[in-house]
Amino acid sequence: MPSPLIAPSILAADFARLAEAVQQVEAAGADWIHIDVMDGHFVPNLTVGPPMVEALRKVTSLPLDVHLMMTNPDEFIPEFAKAGADILTVHVEACPHLHRTVQAIKELNVKAGVSLNPATSTTTLEYILGDVDLVLVMSVNPGFGGQTFIDSSLEKIRQIRAMLADAKCSPYLEVDGGITVKNVASVLHAGANALVAGSAIFGSANMSDAIRQLRTADQTVIV
Ligand code: DX5
Ligand code: ZN
Repeated sequence: MPSPLIAPSILAADFARLAEAVQQVEAAGADWIHIDVMDGHFVPNLTVGPPMVEALRKVTSLPLDVHLMMTNPDEFIPEFAKAGADILTVHVEACPHLHRTVQAIKELNVKAGVSLNPATSTTTLEYILGDVDLVLVMSVNPGFGGQTFIDSSLEKIRQIRAMLADAKCSPYLEVDGGITVKNVASVLHAGANALVAGSAIFGSANMSDAIRQLRTADQTVIV
Protein backbone atom coordinates (compact mmCIF):
# COMPACT_ATOMS: atom_id res chain seq x y z
CA MET A 1 0.00 0.00 0.00
CA PRO A 2 1.56 3.37 -0.95
CA SER A 3 1.96 5.88 1.90
CA PRO A 4 -1.04 8.10 2.49
CA LEU A 5 -0.85 11.85 2.15
CA ILE A 6 -0.99 13.69 5.47
CA ALA A 7 -2.92 16.95 5.69
CA PRO A 8 -2.64 18.61 9.12
CA SER A 9 -5.74 20.66 9.95
CA ILE A 10 -4.70 24.08 11.21
CA LEU A 11 -7.99 24.27 13.12
CA ALA A 12 -6.08 22.61 15.96
CA ALA A 13 -3.17 25.07 15.81
CA ASP A 14 -2.71 28.33 17.71
CA PHE A 15 -4.63 30.88 15.60
CA ALA A 16 -2.33 33.66 16.81
CA ARG A 17 0.64 31.81 15.30
CA LEU A 18 -0.67 30.17 12.17
CA ALA A 19 2.30 30.98 9.92
CA GLU A 20 4.63 29.33 12.42
CA ALA A 21 2.30 26.32 12.75
CA VAL A 22 2.17 25.81 8.99
CA GLN A 23 5.94 26.03 8.71
CA GLN A 24 6.38 23.60 11.60
CA VAL A 25 4.18 20.93 10.01
CA GLU A 26 5.84 21.50 6.64
CA ALA A 27 9.22 20.83 8.28
CA ALA A 28 7.69 17.83 10.08
CA GLY A 29 6.79 16.18 6.77
CA ALA A 30 3.19 17.23 6.00
CA ASP A 31 2.03 16.81 2.39
CA TRP A 32 -0.85 19.30 2.31
CA ILE A 33 -2.16 22.01 4.64
CA HIS A 34 -5.85 21.50 5.46
CA ILE A 35 -7.76 24.75 6.02
CA ASP A 36 -11.26 24.49 7.52
CA VAL A 37 -13.61 27.25 6.37
CA MET A 38 -16.76 27.44 8.52
CA ASP A 39 -19.60 29.90 7.95
CA GLY A 40 -21.79 29.68 11.06
CA HIS A 41 -24.68 28.34 8.93
CA PHE A 42 -23.63 25.04 7.42
CA VAL A 43 -21.80 24.28 10.66
CA PRO A 44 -22.18 25.87 14.11
CA ASN A 45 -18.78 27.54 14.10
CA LEU A 46 -16.89 30.35 12.35
CA THR A 47 -13.29 30.25 11.22
CA VAL A 48 -11.47 31.87 8.30
CA GLY A 49 -11.98 33.01 4.71
CA PRO A 50 -10.01 33.92 1.58
CA PRO A 51 -7.73 36.49 3.29
CA MET A 52 -6.34 33.74 5.52
CA VAL A 53 -5.77 31.44 2.54
CA GLU A 54 -3.95 34.30 0.80
CA ALA A 55 -1.80 34.97 3.88
CA LEU A 56 -0.86 31.30 4.35
CA ARG A 57 -0.12 30.92 0.63
CA LYS A 58 2.85 33.24 1.23
CA VAL A 59 4.40 31.16 4.01
CA THR A 60 4.38 27.63 2.56
CA SER A 61 4.96 25.86 -0.72
CA LEU A 62 2.69 22.95 0.26
CA PRO A 63 -0.66 22.55 -1.52
CA LEU A 64 -3.51 24.26 0.36
CA ASP A 65 -6.39 21.81 0.84
CA VAL A 66 -9.36 24.07 1.55
CA HIS A 67 -12.46 22.46 3.06
CA LEU A 68 -15.51 24.67 2.52
CA MET A 69 -18.10 24.02 5.24
CA MET A 70 -20.48 26.67 3.97
CA THR A 71 -23.98 26.88 2.54
CA ASN A 72 -23.06 29.03 -0.48
CA PRO A 73 -19.64 27.94 -1.71
CA ASP A 74 -20.41 28.97 -5.31
CA GLU A 75 -20.30 32.63 -4.34
CA PHE A 76 -16.78 32.33 -2.93
CA ILE A 77 -15.03 29.87 -5.26
CA PRO A 78 -13.37 32.57 -7.43
CA GLU A 79 -12.06 34.37 -4.34
CA PHE A 80 -10.63 31.20 -2.80
CA ALA A 81 -9.01 30.28 -6.12
CA LYS A 82 -7.47 33.75 -6.42
CA ALA A 83 -6.24 33.51 -2.83
CA GLY A 84 -4.19 30.45 -3.75
CA ALA A 85 -6.24 27.36 -2.86
CA ASP A 86 -4.95 24.24 -4.63
CA ILE A 87 -7.90 22.03 -3.70
CA LEU A 88 -11.41 23.31 -3.01
CA THR A 89 -13.75 20.80 -1.41
CA VAL A 90 -17.48 21.50 -1.21
CA HIS A 91 -20.16 19.54 0.64
CA VAL A 92 -22.73 17.64 -1.43
CA GLU A 93 -25.34 18.66 1.18
CA ALA A 94 -24.76 22.34 0.33
CA CYS A 95 -24.71 22.11 -3.45
CA PRO A 96 -27.99 21.58 -5.34
CA HIS A 97 -26.08 21.95 -8.63
CA LEU A 98 -23.07 19.92 -7.63
CA HIS A 99 -21.90 19.19 -11.17
CA ARG A 100 -21.94 22.92 -11.99
CA THR A 101 -20.01 23.73 -8.81
CA VAL A 102 -17.36 21.10 -9.55
CA GLN A 103 -16.94 22.40 -13.10
CA ALA A 104 -16.65 25.99 -11.82
CA ILE A 105 -13.78 24.95 -9.53
CA LYS A 106 -11.97 23.05 -12.28
CA GLU A 107 -12.32 25.91 -14.75
CA LEU A 108 -10.21 27.97 -12.35
CA ASN A 109 -7.47 25.31 -12.52
CA VAL A 110 -8.09 24.24 -8.96
CA LYS A 111 -8.61 20.60 -7.93
CA ALA A 112 -12.24 19.89 -7.05
CA GLY A 113 -13.26 17.86 -4.02
CA VAL A 114 -16.67 16.76 -2.74
CA SER A 115 -17.39 15.90 0.86
CA LEU A 116 -20.03 13.79 2.61
CA ASN A 117 -21.28 14.32 6.16
CA PRO A 118 -21.49 11.19 8.32
CA ALA A 119 -25.23 10.64 7.63
CA THR A 120 -25.01 11.27 3.87
CA SER A 121 -25.19 8.25 1.59
CA THR A 122 -22.48 7.29 -0.86
CA THR A 123 -25.19 7.19 -3.55
CA THR A 124 -24.92 11.00 -3.75
CA LEU A 125 -21.53 10.45 -5.42
CA GLU A 126 -22.78 8.14 -8.15
CA TYR A 127 -23.01 10.70 -10.97
CA ILE A 128 -20.11 12.92 -9.93
CA LEU A 129 -17.29 10.48 -9.14
CA GLY A 130 -15.77 10.66 -12.61
CA ASP A 131 -15.55 14.46 -12.42
CA VAL A 132 -13.84 15.01 -9.10
CA ASP A 133 -10.21 15.09 -7.99
CA LEU A 134 -10.96 14.24 -4.37
CA VAL A 135 -13.68 12.67 -2.22
CA LEU A 136 -13.66 13.72 1.44
CA VAL A 137 -15.39 11.43 3.91
CA MET A 138 -16.29 13.24 7.13
CA SER A 139 -15.76 10.85 10.01
CA VAL A 140 -17.18 13.35 12.54
CA ASN A 141 -20.02 15.85 12.18
CA PRO A 142 -18.18 18.90 10.87
CA GLY A 143 -17.78 22.03 12.95
CA PHE A 144 -15.17 21.25 15.56
CA GLY A 145 -11.80 19.60 16.00
CA GLY A 146 -11.09 17.00 18.64
CA GLN A 147 -14.24 14.89 18.20
CA THR A 148 -14.46 11.08 18.29
CA PHE A 149 -14.21 9.11 15.05
CA ILE A 150 -17.59 7.67 13.96
CA ASP A 151 -17.05 3.96 13.29
CA SER A 152 -19.62 3.65 10.49
CA SER A 153 -17.26 5.82 8.42
CA LEU A 154 -15.13 2.72 7.79
CA GLU A 155 -17.90 1.01 5.86
CA LYS A 156 -18.48 4.21 3.91
CA ILE A 157 -14.80 4.41 2.94
CA ARG A 158 -14.91 0.76 1.79
CA GLN A 159 -18.03 1.45 -0.29
CA ILE A 160 -16.49 4.47 -1.97
CA ARG A 161 -13.25 2.55 -2.66
CA ALA A 162 -15.36 -0.13 -4.39
CA MET A 163 -17.31 2.50 -6.36
CA LEU A 164 -14.03 4.03 -7.56
CA ALA A 165 -12.79 0.63 -8.72
CA ASP A 166 -16.05 0.05 -10.64
CA ALA A 167 -15.92 3.51 -12.19
CA LYS A 168 -12.22 3.08 -12.99
CA CYS A 169 -11.34 6.49 -11.63
CA SER A 170 -8.90 7.48 -8.94
CA PRO A 171 -9.58 10.72 -7.11
CA TYR A 172 -7.93 11.03 -3.71
CA LEU A 173 -10.02 9.41 -0.99
CA GLU A 174 -9.50 11.63 2.03
CA VAL A 175 -10.88 11.14 5.54
CA ASP A 176 -11.38 13.94 8.07
CA GLY A 177 -12.25 13.87 11.75
CA GLY A 178 -11.12 12.03 14.85
CA ILE A 179 -8.14 10.33 13.21
CA THR A 180 -5.60 9.05 15.73
CA VAL A 181 -2.68 6.63 15.71
CA LYS A 182 -5.12 4.07 17.16
CA ASN A 183 -7.70 4.10 14.35
CA VAL A 184 -5.61 5.18 11.37
CA ALA A 185 -4.67 1.65 10.29
CA SER A 186 -8.35 0.73 9.91
CA VAL A 187 -8.99 3.92 7.94
CA LEU A 188 -6.16 3.08 5.55
CA HIS A 189 -7.14 -0.57 5.21
CA ALA A 190 -10.68 0.57 4.34
CA GLY A 191 -9.21 2.41 1.35
CA ALA A 192 -8.33 6.00 2.30
CA ASN A 193 -5.18 7.47 0.80
CA ALA A 194 -5.22 10.97 2.29
CA LEU A 195 -5.69 11.78 5.97
CA VAL A 196 -6.68 15.00 7.69
CA ALA A 197 -5.55 15.22 11.30
CA GLY A 198 -5.83 18.18 13.64
CA SER A 199 -5.47 17.23 17.29
CA ALA A 200 -3.40 14.11 16.55
CA ILE A 201 -0.69 16.32 15.03
CA PHE A 202 -0.90 19.72 16.74
CA GLY A 203 -1.66 18.12 20.10
CA SER A 204 1.46 16.01 19.92
CA ALA A 205 4.74 16.97 21.57
CA ASN A 206 6.62 15.79 18.48
CA MET A 207 4.86 16.60 15.22
CA SER A 208 7.38 14.73 13.04
CA ASP A 209 6.77 11.56 15.02
CA ALA A 210 3.01 12.07 14.90
CA ILE A 211 3.07 12.49 11.11
CA ARG A 212 5.40 9.50 10.66
CA GLN A 213 3.16 7.31 12.82
CA LEU A 214 0.06 8.27 10.84
CA ARG A 215 1.85 7.69 7.56
CA THR A 216 3.21 4.26 8.41
CA ALA A 217 0.24 2.93 10.37
CA ASP A 218 -0.92 0.62 7.56
CA GLN A 219 2.11 -1.51 8.26
CA THR A 220 0.70 -2.21 11.70
CA VAL A 221 -1.20 -5.48 12.13
CA ILE A 222 -4.81 -4.93 13.24
CA VAL A 223 -5.85 -7.16 16.14
C1 DX5 B 1 -14.03 19.29 11.42
C2 DX5 B 1 -12.92 19.68 10.49
C3 DX5 B 1 -11.70 18.86 10.65
C4 DX5 B 1 -11.05 18.96 12.01
C5 DX5 B 1 -10.29 17.70 12.29
O1 DX5 B 1 -15.17 19.99 11.09
O2 DX5 B 1 -13.33 19.56 9.13
O3 DX5 B 1 -10.76 19.13 9.61
O4 DX5 B 1 -10.20 20.05 12.12
O5 DX5 B 1 -9.78 17.78 13.58
P1 DX5 B 1 -9.44 16.46 14.43
O6 DX5 B 1 -8.38 15.71 13.66
O7 DX5 B 1 -8.98 17.01 15.71
O8 DX5 B 1 -10.72 15.66 14.52
ZN1 ZN C 1 -11.78 19.63 7.48
